[in-house]
Amino acid sequence: MTTLDASLSGQFAIGGDLSVNRLGFGAMRITGKGIWGPPEDHEAALAVLRRLPELNVNLIDTAESYGPYISEELIGEALAPYGKGTVVATKSGLTRTGPDEWHQVGRPEFLRQGVMTSLRRLKREQLDLWQLHRIDARTPREDQFGVIADMLKEGLIRHAGLSEVSVDDIRQAQKYFKVATVQNHYNLAGRKSEVVLDYCAEQGIGFIPWFPLAGGELVAGHDKARAIMDKHGASGSQIALAWLLKRSPVMLPIPGTGKLKHLEDNVAAAAIALSDEDFATLDAIGRR
Ligand SMILES: NC(=O)c1ccc[n+]([C@@H]2O[C@H](COP(=O)([O-])OP(=O)(O)OC[C@H]3O[C@@H](n4cnc5c(N)ncnc54)[C@H](OP(=O)(O)O)[C@@H]3O)[C@@H](O)[C@H]2O)c1
Repeated sequence: MTTLDASLSGQFAIGGDLSVNRLGFGAMRITGKGIWGPPEDHEAALAVLRRLPELNVNLIDTAESYGPYISEELIGEALAPYGKGTVVATKSGLTRTGPDEWHQVGRPEFLRQGVMTSLRRLKREQLDLWQLHRIDARTPREDQFGVIADMLKEGLIRHAGLSEVSVDDIRQAQKYFKVATVQNHYNLAGRKSEVVLDYCAEQGIGFIPWFPLAGGELVAGHDKARAIMDKHGASGSQIALAWLLKRSPVMLPIPGTGKLKHLEDNVAAAAIALSDEDFATLDAIGRR
């Protein structure tokens, strides 16, 4: 029988004090098409979220812009008052005008409003982890980083993170506040954030790779990788997740799905322990 237990992925303490099981869940896919509006099946979305604690998935990633608002509202509806140890990570800094349309807004009053309304939607008194979705090129950085420092001091947010950033961006932000996490595009086949990941590992910053399942198809179409899949009785997506988990102890993958079956498939990857040799084989395939 397949083991479904996210705690097998190991633990990481976000900001040094919020321990989570490293394999988390991305709640972007529980909204409508184009990450816009409600999901087709409200009850099915709630069922996916309610299954998370049963699988020991205790890191849930969302954003006010997913829906917008819908993803956070569903999380609040399904999981509040939340079991002990559940960490909800949310974000602001993007506004929406329609399906698949995203615009950066980093004005301090917008970021603060995002935090205040996320608290309400998620039914929390403090946000465990709040991330700046994008650094807005049109707003002075000191204003964006400054308001984050203020919200940490005020206790509105416990930890703060960044998304889609370079090492230089992180260094600049670190002058204002402790950067607890970085969320960048990264997967077996998409490795342009390698340097950022290494910096995060060195600094003890949690690295949350988004689009973590990409690379699964690449693996499935490759002979040597197929042998690794067969050995573990695993799919390409599961092998891609297992590879991420072995890549770094600060890696916190958040695969996203609106389907119970896919959620369970993804959590099963926490039980896959790749050998060093298989890791290296997959690494070489991914880099190519
Ligand atoms: N910071 C950022 O800028 C940013 C950007 C994008 C995403 N994110 C976050 O990262 C999370 C993950 O990213 P993502 O959703 O783009 O990518 P992903 O998790 O790599 O892939 C999700 C896609 O794969 C499908 N899927 C999931 N599990 C599957 C399985 N076991 N078998 C087959 N298909 C499966 C999903 O469709 P089904 O629903 O049909 O399963 C969905 O289309 C998001 O939920 C969000 O929280 C952050």
